[in-house]
Amino acid sequence: MPIAVPVEKASPGFGDWRDELVTKGYTVVKGAVPRERALEYRDRAFQWLEGFPLGFDRNDVSTWKNEHLPVHVKGGMFHGYGFCHEEFLWDLRCEDGIIDAFAKVWGTDELITSFDGGSIMLPKRTDVKDGGKWEHMDQSLHRRGFYCCQGLVNLNDCGPEDGGLMVLEGSNKLVEEHFDIHGRESYKTWGPFDWYGFTEEQQQWFYDRGCKWTKVCAEPGDLILWDSRTMHYNVRPSGERDRVCTYICMAPASLLSDEDRIQRAECFANYRGTTHVPFAAVFSRAHEPVVRHDGKPCPHDTGVPRNLPKKSLKVLRLVGIEPY
Ligand SMILES: [Fe+2]
Repeated sequence: MPIAVPVEKASPGFGDWRDELVTKGYTVVKGAVPRERALEYRDRAFQWLEGFPLGFDRNDVSTWKNEHLPVHVKGGMFHGYGFCHEEFLWDLRCEDGIIDAFAKVWGTDELITSFDGGSIMLPKRTDVKDGGKWEHMDQSLHRRGFYCCQGLVNLNDCGPEDGGLMVLEGSNKLVEEHFDIHGRESYKTWGPFDWYGFTEEQQQWFYDRGCKWTKVCAEPGDLILWDSRTMHYNVRPSGERDRVCTYICMAPASLLSDEDRIQRAECFANYRGTTHVPFAAVFSRAHEPVVRHDGKPCPHDTGVPRNLPKKSLKVLRLVGIEPY
């Protein structure tokens, strides 16, 4: 399913971060959100955690445990509780600097957004079981070309020791060749069509062609963008700082089919999250309370955000309900 891809067609020659997005498969858009405001969003993320009657206190390390936190995966990725539609996440999606960056990628400011969640990863956790790295790409091996541009809004200082995003630089350029040579029979996904997990043997093929893992460092308010073909995974904090970030993918509204528009409208109305690609193969599940570590459904997961988003024209356009 090839799609018109302005960012790739015009390369090289933008003279800005878009060139790096094409050549390396990722880039950092500096200051997409002003630093102070980004730190306010981080504060709102912690307010969200503290809003549950579970005893979490950001100033008391002894409460940085599963029993005091809403249910999450991989040490701090949140999907339940209607989190994807929390007001602060929608406020971030509406930030001009975020929209402008995706507008530069796609050559249009008429965009729709994914309903992704975010991560709040606390340092010094001792009760997180490591489930592996999950080296993956968020694009089906059956697609070709620059199809989805993923975004991560970084909301705390993120240096080499801090939790963050690892990318296999240049893998975006080699993925199609890899599957052309080795075939496309296998399909390793936890659910969505646009996800593929790589084995160590497959990764070696990329290493043999010079690809190296890079930790992407960023400041509060920086937007990390990557081609969904770029292999990646995340790391938890190993230093002193917490990692706070949200995931945002935007794409041209013109790519949205009527069928997917209806599905996205339902997701928005019912506060359900989606995966990254906003316009096709929407992957979303009906709400079921997340399961706590004692095996029981979390009574605090009603599926409704604690702070409901405002249904402004900008928001409804980003959902795809209101036309541009
Ligand atoms: Fe991913």
